[in-house]
Amino acid sequence: MKSYNLIKIMKKFPYAFYFLLVIPFFQLTAQPLIPDYLNPDKSIEVRIENALSLMTLEEKVALCHAQSQFSSAGVPRLGIPEINYSDGPNGVREELMNNSYAHANWRNDSCTGFPALTCLSATFNPLIAYDYGVAMGEEALYRKKDVLLSPGVNIFRTPMNGRNFEFMGEDPFLTGQMAVPVIKGIQSNGVAACVKSVALSNQETNRKYINVMVSDRALHEIYLPAFKTAVEDGKSWTVMGSYSRLRGQYCCQNDLLLNKIIKKDWNFDGVILADWGGVHDTREAALNGLNVEMGTNTDGNLSKYDDYNNYNLGFPFLRLLKNGEIPLTVVDDKCRRILRLIMRTSMNRNRGFGRFVCEYHSSIARKVAEEGIVLLKNQNNLLPIQKGKYQKIAVIGENAIRNLTAAGGSSELKVKYEVSPLEGLKAKFGKENITFSYGYSAGPNTWGKVVDSKLDKDSLFKAAVETARNADIVLFVGGLNKSWFQESEGSDRKSYNLPYNQDELIEAIQNVNKKTVVLLLSGNAVAMPWLQKVSALLQCWYIGSEAGNAIANIISGEINPSGKLPFSFPKKLEDNGAMFYGKKSYPGDSVVHYMEDILVGYRWYDTKKITPQFPFGYGLSYTIFEYGKIITDKKNYETNETITLSFTLKNTGKTDGAEATQVYATQPKASVLRPAKELKAFRKVFLKAGETQTVEQKIKVKDLAFYNDRTQAWTVEPGEFILRNASSAADVKSSISITISN
Ligand code: GLC
Repeated sequence: MKSYNLIKIMKKFPYAFYFLLVIPFFQLTAQPLIPDYLNPDKSIEVRIENALSLMTLEEKVALCHAQSQFSSAGVPRLGIPEINYSDGPNGVREELMNNSYAHANWRNDSCTGFPALTCLSATFNPLIAYDYGVAMGEEALYRKKDVLLSPGVNIFRTPMNGRNFEFMGEDPFLTGQMAVPVIKGIQSNGVAACVKSVALSNQETNRKYINVMVSDRALHEIYLPAFKTAVEDGKSWTVMGSYSRLRGQYCCQNDLLLNKIIKKDWNFDGVILADWGGVHDTREAALNGLNVEMGTNTDGNLSKYDDYNNYNLGFPFLRLLKNGEIPLTVVDDKCRRILRLIMRTSMNRNRGFGRFVCEYHSSIARKVAEEGIVLLKNQNNLLPIQKGKYQKIAVIGENAIRNLTAAGGSSELKVKYEVSPLEGLKAKFGKENITFSYGYSAGPNTWGKVVDSKLDKDSLFKAAVETARNADIVLFVGGLNKSWFQESEGSDRKSYNLPYNQDELIEAIQNVNKKTVVLLLSGNAVAMPWLQKVSALLQCWYIGSEAGNAIANIISGEINPSGKLPFSFPKKLEDNGAMFYGKKSYPGDSVVHYMEDILVGYRWYDTKKITPQFPFGYGLSYTIFEYGKIITDKKNYETNETITLSFTLKNTGKTDGAEATQVYATQPKASVLRPAKELKAFRKVFLKAGETQTVEQKIKVKDLAFYNDRTQAWTVEPGEFILRNASSAADVKSSISITISN
């Protein structure tokens, strides 16, 4: 445009010209186009404060409780998304109805069934635990879940606990070390893990109100350490309180547990959510550290409340804030944590999109199953079974065909597929060489799906014995099945023995066929009256979608078993510490007293010199491992130092394999009772046939401490400690004495 035209325009429209001059000024001073809380370039803490400053009190209170069965509110007005939660510990539960536990019956939510955490723990392999967490987190992310309610880390106190199959065993160190990589794996997807249920959920009998009387030492040395590790090392973004009471105060609203220990001592910066229905009092819930109230009306029937706003942390909480009975700082602290969770998950712009049911997830499920299966007996090396060696293989037992990913309570899964043991064995050995017989039937009244046999109990029994008589070898596939009163949430077991007459059936089968292999699919210790007679025994856990493939790979020798027991199998129930003290100690009534105190699991058997059927950390291999003598880098240590120990491990057999080596510590002369020994290090070592490796491990001297209930502090007493390398709690290979000085 010629300059004289421009001058003519400027004279005709002078204000337009001035406006053009001031635009740059506006750009410099105008409000940012996006507020801080939405700006991914700002730090999370800046975004939290900005969001908080814009929220009304009503919006803050709304964050603190459920808005549906499995979601809690965001701030719709500000575009801050809600939080979606999902069970469960070993896979993403199917979609449930918005206001109840009823299945929504979607058609696109059938997941990968991963092995139960008990199996994962039995691998003694933190590396595979990370992969397990990554895979599960991917599935949760794909299903648009922000919090996956996993892992469960409650300690096995008694084999009667119906939910043991969901947890990771009797040792707090193993549980914590295996839970941390699961948490990190899940959270690597921008999905929050939820370590649960802090801290005393060790029985299902009266679980919603049981009042646990436990000493400070047992609380801090046995029941809290796995949670502490999960928070401090795993950086879990959420923690779930348990239903039970700790010394009279519900764990979901327990000042000692939530405020003093988890938030103050452990510097937890995440969200504490209640177990579904675990909140009972507004003031306690508000003041004692809880952040999000879920499932107060767990049946989803809102009849008692006209809506979720009437939860304890809804309108009742709002009233107390408005009338000044509770300071606003209380709701602000809750909201900071909840906003931090939202910013770490749904508002995390770096989050991917996850994956759902893919070969990678199946391969992880299969590897965990293969590495977690424990070979407990293998007389005359009956196993492995070379393909083609037998033409008449009898597979007996309903668990060979039962869908074991379903049922069990909140850990139930609707899986895309589940290879049953029978299917896996047929694929491996040829279906023409396999004959199946039910042997027993749990019947249709139990949870979980099974093609129900049409025969009566006696006919099933007789048919199975005949099948065994005519076979070259028998694979009995039994165990428990996540049904009511035996391994399910909400009920404890009624018997230590296998149900459905399996003990008698195994005896009868063994009497007609000396080549009998028992495979137990379960998550708990059981009585084994038939043990001396059977030739081989495998603990196979609940191992998910790839169950049949993993079992077949172990039986055929394609995979050498390397799992080790994460809990002891007592010979008889009364050998167990909790059971020893009778009803007051388990199951109690409305109160239960943890009378075995710190002597839980192998700590009890070792100290009381009771020989278990199978000890903690026990598991055989198809090869043989030779341990060298344990040595340490020094003889004397200060309390702030780290012990470096080592020993050689040789695979002297002809088969490649893996061994979960263990190191236990003992303080022989302590001023207080201490267990005979405690696990302080473990390492899974993979060795080719003939290969030798030096296993090196480090133990911090401060981790040899006991919890001093007089000073309420961890204490390392100067003096002698003994370190032992071992293949199990009952198989010590060598020991070394060291001295700790002040
Ligand atoms: C259940 C369980 C808990 C589960 C929650 C949601 O009662 O105790 O582990 O995550 O409710 O289903």
